[in-house]
Formats: sequence, C-alpha cells, structure tokens
Amino acid sequence: MNTQLIQATKAFFEKTFENTPQKTVLSPGRINIIGEHIDYNDGYVLPAAIDKMICFAFEKTNAPTSTIVAIDLGESVSIDVTANSTLSDTIWTNYLRGVIHQLQNKGLVIGNFNCVFSSTIPVGSGLSSSAALECGFLFGLNELFHLNIKPVDIALMGQSAEHWVGINCGIMDQFSSVMGKANQVIKIDCRTLEYEYHNADFSDYSLVLFDSNVKHSLFSSAYNQRRQECEKGLAILTANFPEVTSFREATVEQILSIKNQMTETVFKRSHYAIKEIKRVALACEALDRGDIVTLGQLLFETHEGLSKEYEVSCAELDMIVETLKKEPAVVGSRLMGGGFGGCTINLIKKGQEEVIKAKLAQLYQETFGIELKTYEVTIANGTSIYTA
Ligand code: GLA
Repeated sequence: MNTQLIQATKAFFEKTFENTPQKTVLSPGRINIIGEHIDYNDGYVLPAAIDKMICFAFEKTNAPTSTIVAIDLGESVSIDVTANSTLSDTIWTNYLRGVIHQLQNKGLVIGNFNCVFSSTIPVGSGLSSSAALECGFLFGLNELFHLNIKPVDIALMGQSAEHWVGINCGIMDQFSSVMGKANQVIKIDCRTLEYEYHNADFSDYSLVLFDSNVKHSLFSSAYNQRRQECEKGLAILTANFPEVTSFREATVEQILSIKNQMTETVFKRSHYAIKEIKRVALACEALDRGDIVTLGQLLFETHEGLSKEYEVSCAELDMIVETLKKEPAVVGSRLMGGGFGGCTINLIKKGQEEVIKAKLAQLYQETFGIELKTYEVTIANGTSIYTA
C-alpha cells in the first residue's frame, strides 16, 4: 500500500511542478501499547511507529513564496516563510505554519520550496496524524536546507508546533513517529527523553485496532484541562511530600492520604497517573518475558482508569472494551491515544481476529448505528527519506 502512496505522491508532484522531487519523506503514525496521558506527567510510555504514514515530496524553488499541496484534501496553500506565522482557519496548514514558526524561533533560515503530501493515516483516530504531519514536514525541510537538526530535536520542535496550534501535548507522538524502529516498541522516559527498544513480539496474539469512528470536537480543551488538573494534583502532592517531584515518585498510599485536600476530580486524575506510570513498567516486563496475558490484563486496567478516573472515554469506546472483555480470545483491550473517540488497541488470539471483528462490528452497528472500522498495523521505522 505504501508503494502506491509513494508513487502517487511523486506522480502528483511531477504533474503539478513539472519536476522530479528532490526529497521524498515518509512519516509514520503511531500506536501506543500502554502509558496513556502520562507523557506530560513525567511518566514512561510504550509506543511504536506504524506502517500508516504520510508521504511528502519536496523541491527547492526561487519563487517568492512556498507552495504546499494537501493532495487528499484537494487544497493548497501559499506561505511566505519569512513572514510572522499566524493561525489560519484552514486547520491542516496550522501544523505546518507551527513548524515554520519553530524554525524562525531558532533562527534557522530556509528558502522557498514546493511540497505535496498524501496520507494513509486516518485523521482523528488517535494514530497521531498531526505529529506525522509536523515531524515529516520538518524532517523534509531539514534535509532540503541542510539545517542539521537532530532527530530528537525534530520531535521536540514538532511538539512545540502542536502547542502553537493549541494542544498542550506531551512528547510521545512526535518522538515515536521520528524514532520508531520496525518490530520494536520504544520505552520512552518522558522526563529525561532516554529511550530503549523492546521486541514487539506478541507471541500467539495479534495487535488489532478497532476505530470507533467517533470524534470529539472539544478534544483540545478537554485535553488541556486534564493537564491542568494533573498540575494541581502534583502541586498538592509536593506540598505534602517535598521529596516527591513528579507522579513517578509518588505512591498510591501518599495520594490516598491527602485525598481530602483535593477536589474529587483532581484526586481521580492524580490517582490514575500514579497507577498508570507503574503499569507501564509492569507491562514492559510482561512483554519482555512473553507474558501477553498479563500485558493484556494491564491494558484492561488502563482502560478502566481512563474511563472512570481520567474520564477521557465515551460510550462507544467503553462498549467495545466491555464487549471484548467477555471474549476468551481477547486478552486485552483499551482506548488508545488522547481518547474521546478514536481507536481501541486490542490483543486477539491469532486465528480468531476475523470472528471477533465480525461479531463486534455487528453489535456496534446495532447499538450505535455506526460502522466499526478495523486496522491491522505493522510496527515500522520512524521518519525517513525514501531513496528508491
Ligand atoms: C495525545 C497527545 C500525546 C499523549 C496522548 C495520550 O496523543 O498528543 O502527547 O498525551 O494523547 O497519551
């Protein structure tokens, strides 16, 4: 499928600009095995890049402005890379404007260019299409104009671009999109940005994504609010326990002992964060020893926390997880990514995927009148230049 994506993107470029592109970039989406909403809470996460991606084609030009075409949307934009970046009503352009803004902030000078891009990452499904857009675009400009930005800094600048657009996200999405490795999950320490790769071997189980096909229009404000609630919880924790500088050092006993000093909401968010950070360590150990049943159990627990305590689930996602919990062939399931819609990540006994899919899709359609989508994904390399 990606060969088709690459060929179509390059062909579109050639037709539009009557030149072969100088650089072709592949920028993947991501999954996350476990560690949700704790990247901005100094936690650990366990994501991986996938074979759904955005393909960009670039060339330098001497034109007075730069032209960028979103092939799938049939839209294009002309940007003056020397002007101050401002937010536009055309949402997709903001992620790119945000990247240009970061370059300007760092005093990195670029010339004008033509760029086209096309994607196989579903938008709004929790697979981080925006991180792939920011990081792939920056990766391409870095190559085209020899800016010497290091991969981790590409991720950090991508994250800053997302903040500029208005979502105060953590580093997980951009980091995994840039640093991903085929067949490996990345355990990222989101406080130090130290990372290690672990084999993505799920033994007798397949990783399947079910897309609820639901999207939350107020995602950004709800996300930013969660972050503020955690900051409040942490402030109360550190005031009581000065040795605790982040949720990773806190114990469940400590947070329980100061429950009466917090609102119920702040308590629930903080309690979830402390428990989720501990679950990631256990999950990574379970993965390493091939204990997929224990890993799956932790996924179910994460969902419970995301639904009841972090309150980022919705009826559709809860129904998917609750239904799958009753299936002996499913050892784990949870909502993935920011929540309020998007996908669940599921571990299903090999050979049983089709039966489970069919059963769930029918029930889902009957309950909500919505079509359930499924994606089988392969764990792939991070952002790269396509050279063939
Ligand atoms: C979004 C954000 C990430 C992370 C997840 C939740 O994908 O961009 O930084 O916080 O939500 O884990």
